[in-house]
Amino acid sequence: MRITERIHKHIETLAAFTSTPGAGVTRVVYTEEDRQAKDYMKAEAEQLGLTISEDEIGNIFATWKGKKWGFAQVWTGSHLDAPTHGGNYDGVVGVFGALEAVRLLQQKGFEPERDLVMVIFAAEEPTRFGMGCLGSRALTGKLRSRDLDEWRDEAGQSLRTILEQRGKNPEKVLLEQLDPSMVKGFLELHIEQGAVLENEGLPIGLVNRIAAPTEIQVQVFGEQRHAGTTPMKLRKDPVPAVAELILKVEEVVQTYSESAVGTVGKMQLHPGASNVIAESVEFTIDMRDSWKEKKDKILQVLEEEAGKLLERRNLRAEWKIKSDDSPSEMDQRVLKELERCATALSLPYKIMSSGAYHDAMIMSEKVPCNMIFIPSKDGISHAPSEFTDVLDIEKGIRLLAEALQVLTNE
Ligand code: GLV
Ligand code: MN
Ligand code: MN
Repeated sequence: MRITERIHKHIETLAAFTSTPGAGVTRVVYTEEDRQAKDYMKAEAEQLGLTISEDEIGNIFATWKGKKWGFAQVWTGSHLDAPTHGGNYDGVVGVFGALEAVRLLQQKGFEPERDLVMVIFAAEEPTRFGMGCLGSRALTGKLRSRDLDEWRDEAGQSLRTILEQRGKNPEKVLLEQLDPSMVKGFLELHIEQGAVLENEGLPIGLVNRIAAPTEIQVQVFGEQRHAGTTPMKLRKDPVPAVAELILKVEEVVQTYSESAVGTVGKMQLHPGASNVIAESVEFTIDMRDSWKEKKDKILQVLEEEAGKLLERRNLRAEWKIKSDDSPSEMDQRVLKELERCATALSLPYKIMSSGAYHDAMIMSEKVPCNMIFIPSKDGISHAPSEFTDVLDIEKGIRLLAEALQVLTNE
């Protein structure tokens, strides 16, 4: 089978593991679809002679043993989970791309000096627990004991309960941290999820910076009353307050930074009936910027503005910061190496920042990280119409293989 046929096969096979057939890929961590996708990739990796292991949170490692023992490993990979009604490419390209890069290297008889590890992070999307990069967070020691109980899915099940149901030991998750001295670097291949490369007609993006999100969970409380009999002046309705608050998000983000973005992507009214004034409204704010100081300023102003607004309306709210990540820098030395590899393969490239977050953002707090981007059609991602041409994926894989060859031989 040619590499393009194998890429096709991986895309088609993985796309079928969805809980919303015909309506995009929905693959939520710790579900049957998630297990099927991971089993498929594990079986593929075993066929290449890689050794599989899994940690307590569910990160999977497929190791190609190097000739030298005890040297720091080189890691590559991404995630297999997908958001609700997402596409066929986000995350998976970096996983099957890692596998195909290994195959290319094996086919030309290359033997790495250091171990080369294909990693599948347990989950990168925040779909289930409202928190992205679950696997890399656990691995880098960013998970706290109380998170195991406080992070709950829509059914109210805590992360601890779900891990226990899977026969895992949640407390061990907190102990199982990566030893940075044993990982030389992590290289993630990913679709761009924006339109920069397409607009400039370039096949490759080399990432120098990743914008970081702050995830906020807000609940505004009012008083549940009859919609027909409660005069406007006597209401404590949280919904118009939330509407005002959301407009504030839009305003403040644009006032304090040109690069920041703010999104209210999820909202729930309780009890949620057309003839009932809501008792409370719950919603999320996803706030991102490449510059920490600007993001911090936006958060501070937003919290102050929200306080004033709620006081004026005589309402109470809970404002919970679920995660507050710092923008990350990719490794400059490996970036130079990637530029050299791209030039050697005659692949025009652009050095660029990432608006989406990735496991590389979390991992970069402990080990040198880099990312290779390939174009996304019309810049669309997190949608069923997400698309990247197979030939573009092949280019990304060839560059990945070239770079891995250099890094595992250093
Ligand atoms: C990752 O999926 C992100 O939301 O940036
Ligand atoms: Mn995503
Ligand atoms: Mn992704």
